[in-house]
Formats: sequence, C-alpha cells, structure tokens
Amino acid sequence: MTLQTELKPRTEVHDRWTMCSSSTGAVEDHSTLFHAGRWVSYPSLLKPVGGLQMVHSFEHIPVLRDEVVALFAAVPDGVVIDATVGGGGHAAALLAAYPGLRVIGLDRDPAALEAAAVRLAPFGERVDLVHAPFSGLADVTMEPLSGVLFDLGVSSPQIDWGERGFSFRSDAPIDMRFDPSTGTTAGQLANELPEAALTALFRENGEGRLSSRIARAVVAARPLTSTVQLADAVAAAVPAALRRRGHPATRVFQALRIAVNDELGQLETALPVALDRLAVGGRCAVISYHSGEDRLTKAIFARATTGGCTCPPQLPCVCGAVARHQLVFRGSRRPAAAEIAGNRRAQSARLRAIVRTAVD
Ligand SMILES: C[S@@+](CC[C@H](N)C(=O)[O-])C[C@H]1O[C@@H](n2cnc3c(N)ncnc32)[C@H](O)[C@@H]1O
Repeated sequence: MTLQTELKPRTEVHDRWTMCSSSTGAVEDHSTLFHAGRWVSYPSLLKPVGGLQMVHSFEHIPVLRDEVVALFAAVPDGVVIDATVGGGGHAAALLAAYPGLRVIGLDRDPAALEAAAVRLAPFGERVDLVHAPFSGLADVTMEPLSGVLFDLGVSSPQIDWGERGFSFRSDAPIDMRFDPSTGTTAGQLANELPEAALTALFRENGEGRLSSRIARAVVAARPLTSTVQLADAVAAAVPAALRRRGHPATRVFQALRIAVNDELGQLETALPVALDRLAVGGRCAVISYHSGEDRLTKAIFARATTGGCTCPPQLPCVCGAVARHQLVFRGSRRPAAAEIAGNRRAQSARLRAIVRTAVD
C-alpha cells in the first residue's frame, strides 16, 4: 500500500504494536494509520473481552460478491473507489479478478480500515485506504473512475461487537456511530430529541402508527443508558398483537443508526458525484439493505438515465436533457436463496448498477 500525501485524507496502516499492562495483564493492541497528513494511533481489533484474553476478528461475508465481480468485468482499467471498503472482501475479489484495477477504499470506521489493510496487503501498491465518509468522495481523486461500489449499511462486526452499541443482544452504551471518534451517539438522540422529532424519525423508518407510542415510551424511560434498557422500553410500548416478525426494537435501532450516521444524506451527496466521475464504460454498483436507500438509489439512477428530462414520458423529449448513463439491468437483483441460507445478513440486499455511456 502506498503513502501518497498529495491526496488527503489518505490512510495507510504503518505499524501495530501490543501493550500489556503489568498490573492487570490486559492486552491492548494499537495500529498507526496515516490519515489526513499525520500519523494517528487507533486501538486495534485485538481487545481483551471481559477478563478473558479473547480477541476480536473482523469477520464480514461480502454480499453478492460474485455478482459485483461480474459487473466490473467490462470496466476499463484504472481506479475503482470502494466507498464502503469494510473488511475488504469485495475489494479483494475485484483486485484478484482484474489485474488492471486499483482500489481506493473508504470507510468511516477505523477498525474496518485496519481489517481491510491486512486483507488487502497482498495487493500492495494497487490499494489505498482512506479514513473518510464517502460524502467526501469528490476530494479523494480527480482521476476518471473505472468503477464505484457502495455496499451500504453495516459491517457484521459493528453489530457483533457488543461494545459498539448497535445491537441489544449485548448490553452496552447506545452508540451506533460508524466512526466512534466523532459525532452524536444514538444514546444522545434517544435522550435529547423532543418526542415529536423521535416520532418523525421512527415514522420515516416505517413504524407507522406505532411511532408516536414508541417515542412516548422512549421519552418516559429517560435517562436511557444502555441498549437493553432502550430495547425493553420499546418492547413494552408495542402490544403483542401488533408485533411484527422479530423483536419490536430492531427497526427502532435501525432508525436511530440511520439518523446517527446520516446514512441517506451521505448517499444523496455521494452517489451523483460518483456517477459524474465515472469514465465512459465505468460502472457504479449500489447494494442497499433497506427501502429508503434503495428508493434513493433508484431515483438518482433514474435522473442519470434520463439526463433529468422533464418531458411527459409518452412524448418525444424537447427539454434538451442528455442522458450520460444507462442501467446495466432493469430493476434490482437479490441474492440467491443459497447465499441467504449461508449469510442471513444478505436477506434484505438489493443490487442496482449503472454504466457511463457518454462524456459531458
Ligand atoms: C456492508 S459494509 C461493507 C463491507 C465490504 N463491502 C466488505 O466486503 O467487507 C459497510 C461499511 O460501510 C461503512 N460505511 C457506512 N457508511 C459510510 C459512509 N458514509 N462513508 C464511509 N463508510 C461508510 C461502514 O463502516 C461499514 O464498514
């Protein structure tokens, strides 16, 4: 992996070391990454869990990996931005399949970048990693892009590592930030948003008429300090007869996570830039995991494939709009049953793809 200081922020794993407390025997492992022109130390994946010297490993199965690899078969040699590099699963598959591609991998989560750096190390100079939200994609490179991949949502370890506070399966502070070093936590939202704002947030995420009831229960349970406390407050507000499949708090947690990380705002900013930066023949693929993301992707792709044409669909275009992109296939593709059987997190995935067909 190269260190290119002319493009900022750039991130590269430089070094890792382990510290062992002589009093407690606790092991703390650190990595140093080059980020935004300076060396930064991040606590590493290797953390003691409870009193045991267990280690976390960053395990994430890339969803629709073979479909993504097949989609990028036709792109010109050059740079692909993996806007959500996570553990580097998709990136590794692309780099292995296509020797003419280089990858710039972005992630907000330093732990994900660290895992990606290890996974992608065999590809050496063909990889750069950047600790940045993909809303900053425009600043990463000025090169016309061969491809951009958005595999939205969470990496499995963000859910599985209880201390990240994304899940009520373990009791922890309610955090849910992809980048734990910055921004508002989900606990702050749950504790500080007015009831009406919480209601709106839950309604946007599809809680319908239960939204106000859940928001009222959350406000009544304040101060909320832990994931389990929040889940219990939500569960108590939802009558058994109205419970849908699964725990009633699952969608409430998802709504808070989406808000904390401004997930739709990030996509709305980044996707048009990604499409604009594609070289002719370059492709952009988006894997989304909830309907809000997929609707937004569909709308942005529709605008790109019509050039923003405002003429009635049954009449010839007279508004002068010029389309510069085409859908690679109509609608969205879903993982096959066999993939879902092996990875239940693939269940809600939808893949859409678009290709640049013309210059400005
Ligand atoms: C589904 S995972 C990607 C997994 C990856 N494709 C792989 O094969 O390992 C999504 C990742 O996107 C990151 N992420 C989510 N929103 C982001 C954003 N706006 N900017 C950068 N990274 C983001 C998360 O931290 C998470 O690691």
